[in-house]
Amino acid sequence: MPKKVIAIDGPAGAGKSTVARQVAKRLNYLYIDTGAMYRALTLKALKMHIPLTDWDLLTKLAQETKIELLSKNDKIIVICDGQDVSEEIRKPEVSQNVSLVALIPGVREKMVEAQRQMAKKGGVVMDGRDIATVVLPQADCKVFLTASVEERALRRYKELVEKGYQEPLDKVKEDIYRRDLLDKEREVGPLMQSPDAVLIDSTGLSIETVVEKILSLCGEGE
Ligand code: DC
Repeated sequence: MPKKVIAIDGPAGAGKSTVARQVAKRLNYLYIDTGAMYRALTLKALKMHIPLTDWDLLTKLAQETKIELLSKNDKIIVICDGQDVSEEIRKPEVSQNVSLVALIPGVREKMVEAQRQMAKKGGVVMDGRDIATVVLPQADCKVFLTASVEERALRRYKELVEKGYQEPLDKVKEDIYRRDLLDKEREVGPLMQSPDAVLIDSTGLSIETVVEKILSLCGEGE
């Protein structure tokens, strides 16, 4: 069977990465977490104290930065300029600032180009905000995964607690709300459901249920 291209878009905390990783595992496909790429660049910019309002400098930074996504024992390893930043890119400081970097057209252009390159051979599950609309409009299967803002905030809060970060739930919810707004309202590659994508609301659904739904949508169910 020819290998497919599966696009999963949706807002922060909808469970995209967990679900996409499992779909990829079941099909023996490559999982590409595009959010991790924007996060890696944001982390680098923060470390270099670059003002996130300096679009020219950040575009140049994106052009000079090498971001690689590797798969190791079911985990995604994010390498930025040769350094493993997989853990650091999940820090609250990065989450709070990444949407400002993802706004920049020159940054998006560089990321989209790299993402298309990674998907060239097929057999990929890619998740993000603009995958079905901009990056891979020819994808074989398109899903828009969402959940209520309360549930998304609770999921992110639990993830942060597990990683040892202390953030009040209200603050996590406020950050998610703010990030959604920035992601939806930007001019280039905004967060939106592609007209040919299938909407899945994962509120109250288990990960397994969502994974099965996506596999059957893609004609790969049992
Ligand atoms: O999926 P995530 O929370 O790790 O994504 C981090 C940020 O990156 C998100 O707030 C918006 C941005 N992003 C984007 O603009 N386009 C993508 N394809 C993926 C992520």
